[in-house]
Parts: sequence; structure tokens; C-alpha cells
Amino acid sequence: MPLVDLDRFDFLYANRVKGMKTAVTRDLMATLSRPGIISLAGGFPDTKLFGEEAFREISQNIAADSAQALQYGPTAGLESIKDVIVDVMSAEGIEASQEEVFTTTGAQQALDLVAKVFLDEGDAILCEGPTYAGALNAFAAYRPRIMHIPMDRAGIIPSAVREALKKARKQGVRVKFIYTVPNFQNPTGVTMNGERRRELLQIAREYDLIIIEDNPYGMLRFEGEPLPTLSAIEKEEDGDVDRVVYLGTFSKIFAPGVRLGWVHAQPGILHKINVGKQGADLCSSNLSQMMISSYFQHSDWRGYVKRQTKIYQERRNAMLDALAEFMPKEVHWTHPEGGLFVWATMPSYLDATNMLPRAISRNVAYVPGEGFYAGGEGKNCMRLNFSFVEPERIRRGIELLSEVIRDHMELRSDLERGSQQGARHGSKIGTDR
Ligand SMILES: Cc1ncc(COP(=O)(O)O)c(C=O)c1O
Repeated sequence: MPLVDLDRFDFLYANRVKGMKTAVTRDLMATLSRPGIISLAGGFPDTKLFGEEAFREISQNIAADSAQALQYGPTAGLESIKDVIVDVMSAEGIEASQEEVFTTTGAQQALDLVAKVFLDEGDAILCEGPTYAGALNAFAAYRPRIMHIPMDRAGIIPSAVREALKKARKQGVRVKFIYTVPNFQNPTGVTMNGERRRELLQIAREYDLIIIEDNPYGMLRFEGEPLPTLSAIEKEEDGDVDRVVYLGTFSKIFAPGVRLGWVHAQPGILHKINVGKQGADLCSSNLSQMMISSYFQHSDWRGYVKRQTKIYQERRNAMLDALAEFMPKEVHWTHPEGGLFVWATMPSYLDATNMLPRAISRNVAYVPGEGFYAGGEGKNCMRLNFSFVEPERIRRGIELLSEVIRDHMELRSDLERGSQQGARHGSKIGTDR
């Protein structure tokens, strides 16, 4: 980004701009599209799997309603897309009704709207540590305090949530919501176990908080049994949707290019979100909504998700096998049962951000862990994506990355022979070898 610090309108920008930063992955995009680079950095589903023929068919199906497709629509979304959302949620085990769902321009907009309607400057929110960088970005504009809660292999640690809430209460800090990605979390690939889901909900009741349940990956499971969403647990235990605000998206089960997601919540919250969205973009694209409705109503979308998931599983296997084959024994990683990501943790003295230029010069890229924390932790960690690259290239990419890590470890050993340095920043996530 050129000359950001010399921006001559600095004195005019709003205070909120100070907290906003661009996502590393967005900045990296141009570099990563360079031929020859094996990018394990993106968070992309593989849209090539959808195919030209299926795309043509959808376009033909909606051509007859071109006037509506090209028109503005209702802020909450067309009736037909709400039917589809209810259907998709039912496949996720949530009995939703049309009135409880609200269409957004991707789940990303939902994150922004949730922050817009709940956060005043200085309010605190609890997030997993690490958490989805895009959520941190969306929240940052509203200038909250981010409190990261450590995770282990079973997800966010409830006792640490309680501790943080007690501490906040003591300090007179107002906590508004807990943000969680319970399934195959971005960036760690970790899934919160069933017991913790119930406990988290119980904590939210005790402290009268909202839970933002962001679930883009729930249906991309290739191992193990699906777990009930927090939203489903709330309906089962309390008889209705109340404090869980569930975010869904078509990005990972269909395609991110349509930019369509949704919020499932109780009417009071949806009303506020509706007003917030009117100010942001009036409505989401009718064209996208109609394409999705056409596909989901007339085609085997579940079959398509299954096909994608099978391919991601092969790629996940390729990544785990390559990690086991090539990585130095000091490096650890997670074992996701679905989704798109593996999280790798290097020895605490290595810095994944500093290492990235070297990795790119060796033709492999990843996302440094630092961007998934608000306060600079996670420096020795990295997010590795397996959904977008073919297995042989994943294997080669991990081999190259292992070489880069080894080089840096050796450099450190050389330095250490001369002088003793203190360890820096660690990571709390329990990982598999
Ligand atoms: C956890 C999480 N939430 C939200 C989003 C945004 O998704 P969308 O494409 O629906 O805006 C992503 C995208 O990668 C994500 O990983």
C-alpha cells in the first residue's frame, strides 16, 4: 500500500479509521496470483467444480424473470431465497421459519451489521483466539475491545470465558457478545465439542449476552458426526430463538461470487439489522438471490456439497500427509474434520510474518497467524488452506514450506551459538502431530 502514512487528508479521517487495517490475505492477492506460486494462503472454495453447464442452466432459468432479477428487492430478501435458506438451515439441523431469516451481502456484511447494531466504542466482545480476521476487520470500525479467549482441540475454553467475563465485570467493562465459529473454525480448523456449546450458551444466559454463531463451514464435514449448532441447542433447550444470532452463507456451499449470506435471529434483532442494512446497501442483489433459488430449488445442491467435500477431504489428507512427511518435529498442526484450513504452530522463536517473503521467493505462500489476533499474538503460527490447490501441489507446497522453516530454525541455532535470546510470543492451541 503506497504512501499510507503520508496521506494528506489524515486530519479529516474519522477516528474509527485508526483501528481499521486491511486483511493480509487481501493485500497478498496480487502476489499470490503470480504463476508458479503455490498458494496455501487463500480461503477459497474451488469454484471450478461447479462447471459451465450448470452455470448456463441457472442463467437460462432466470432469464424469463429478467425484469425482477435486474430490479431492487426487499431489504430482508426475496421470498424464494428465504425458502431456500430455511431449507439449508434444516439440513444443518435448525428448524427456522421465513420470519427468522434475513438476507445479507455475504456473511461478511452480517458481521458488519451485527457490530453496527450492538457496539458502542469501548464495548468489549469475546472472540476465540485466534479468530476469523475478516470479523476482526468488521468489528474494528466500531472500536470495541477485543478479548481473545484461548482454545484447545475442543474449541473455545469455557472456564476462560467465565474468567474473562468476571474480569470485565470487575473492571466495569461492558461485554456485548461472544463471537464464535464453532465448526472447522477459520483459521484453525478446530470444532467446538457438544458439551462446550451447551456450556457457552449457559454462560451467555448467566451474563445476559448475545452469541454470534458464524457457521460458513458446518456442511463441509468429511469426518465424524455433525454436532448441533448453538442455535439448534437454544431452540431445543429454551423453545425459541433468543440470544443466538446465527450467520450463514452460500459462499462455501455454492459460490462466494454471488455474495449472499443470511442472519437467523429473533425479530427484535432482525429489525435493527434491517435498518442497518438499508443504510449500507438497501438490499442484496436480486440477481444473486434468483440464481441461488433456481439452483437450490431445481438441482441436487446436497450432491454438489458432497462432491466438494469429498475433494476437500482428499486435499486435507494430502496436506496432513505432507506435513507429517516433511515438517521438522518442532512444528505442530491441527487435524480438521472438515472445512478449508489447517493451523500450524512453529517454535515460539519463529515469526511467520517475517518468514513470508522468503517463502514467497521459494514459491509457496500461507497466511501468518498474527492477523487472526487483535493484539499481535500468534506470530509463530500460520494458516494453511487446502481447498483450492490440487493434492500434488499441496504436497510440493508443504515440502517447500518445510525447507523455509528449517532454514530459519538453522539460522536461529547458528545465532544461538553466539548469544542466548529470550523466546517470544507463544500459541495456546493444542495441536496434533
Ligand atoms: C468464519 C467466516 N465468516 C464469514 C466469512 C465471510 O463469508 P462471506 O463470503 O459469506 O461474506 C468467512 C469467509 O471466509 C469466514 O471464514
